[in-house]
Amino acid sequence: MILLVDRAYLATLLHTPECGRVELLRDTLIVANDDGEIVGVHTAQDPGVEALVRRFAAAGTLVRFGADQYLLPGLVDLHIHAPQWPQLGLALDLPLEEWLQIHTFPLEARYADGAYAATVYASLVDGLLANGTTTAMYFGTIHLEATQILAQICLEKSQRALIGRVAMDDPAQCPAYYRDPSAEFAAAQTRAFIEYVQAMPGNGRGLVRPVITPRFIPSCTDELLAKLGALAADSGCHVQTHCSESDWEHRFVFERFGISDTAALAKFGLLSRRTILAHGNFLSDDDLASIAAHGAGIAHCPLSNVYFSDAVFPLRRVLDRGVHVGLGSDIAGGSSPSILDNARHAVLSSRLLESGVDPALVRSARRRPESRIDAPTAFWLATVGGGIALDLKIGLFRPGYQFDALCIDTAASDSNLRVASTDTPEQILQKILYEAARSNIRDVWVANRHVRGSDTGQRAA
Ligand code: GUN
Ligand code: FE
Repeated sequence: MILLVDRAYLATLLHTPECGRVELLRDTLIVANDDGEIVGVHTAQDPGVEALVRRFAAAGTLVRFGADQYLLPGLVDLHIHAPQWPQLGLALDLPLEEWLQIHTFPLEARYADGAYAATVYASLVDGLLANGTTTAMYFGTIHLEATQILAQICLEKSQRALIGRVAMDDPAQCPAYYRDPSAEFAAAQTRAFIEYVQAMPGNGRGLVRPVITPRFIPSCTDELLAKLGALAADSGCHVQTHCSESDWEHRFVFERFGISDTAALAKFGLLSRRTILAHGNFLSDDDLASIAAHGAGIAHCPLSNVYFSDAVFPLRRVLDRGVHVGLGSDIAGGSSPSILDNARHAVLSSRLLESGVDPALVRSARRRPESRIDAPTAFWLATVGGGIALDLKIGLFRPGYQFDALCIDTAASDSNLRVASTDTPEQILQKILYEAARSNIRDVWVANRHVRGSDTGQRAA
């Protein structure tokens, strides 16, 4: 059982206070309170830190880490489809519109069965926590009960979660066996889900939050989009959807409305500071300006984009326009539940965009100069970037932020990670980003609750 306790953590901290800047703090004491909030970060040089360490040690509430261990902020997954967990690693060879109809909608329809939902969702949340994902923004299915079960499981297992009951009512794009019978029904069920999550016993601090979730414009009638936009204004809830993901989707919206996906979402009131748009591979300069002006965020899903998007997301260009960006696994469009893995692939795909991929073209025609990002930027996206996009105080070890963290054990018995005493902070971060595996993630905390691992409290330093 997970108990709420005040604790202090004496560790080597590794985080990215600004995009691209690594900070490593050795022998630093973090104190976090019952609300999960960090109330103090005391470096070894701070006067009085030794007395504080003794006090927490005497109270039995000190967690002391070994020399081979690094404490990282928890990882943020901005875009994941919870019901697609059984499909992980499958059927990645079809275009998006066929993949949805042939594989994904039949699977999602199974969540009419609450018992099936409970089994899959418990395994999913355990799996994500084991991979260090302390915050996830989930798409559920059209089923109210199954999505309520997901919310309950996240709360019980103490994963920070933003969850949407999916709305999709357009008979032209949604099969009869898996769609909302009307816009009115979809909006009413969305409202019922919001009320349910906000009233869940034990959720007073908002660890789990409801999200208004039109699947994407092709699945929704104008009437539903308008109703959900009105509900977003009314409730102040987060909104999530897919936007300009693939050639097909991007063109579909232009043909239907004569304007871009982003412009259409704005017109329906679905673009706000609390909106997360998944993918966004084909955004124009005007779209980016609009997203930045609304303060909305983009979930960059580098692995999923390889399979479904037809292009590489121009990450550097989007960041340079001041748009909020974090990372998404897009399970099961993406084949890895690990946000560290997706961070690696964010670096990789930015390098492919920069170099170009077609060797038949001359270098100048192949390249897109200045497209690369580096490892610290990818780590920032996986932590702070996701937090900013969600408008939550997560992703950094600073007072006022939530204590969501993972312990990377570089001495784990089956580790590929080898840190040398001569490595600089940036080199340590690079090695962790590229080499850390699930086996290196020793312990995980969300809101100052230990949710995964051994957490013996007192370890030999
Ligand atoms: N667009 C609409 N639905 C989906 C989905 O489930 N996955 C992805 N990748 N794109 C979508
Ligand atoms: Fe998706």
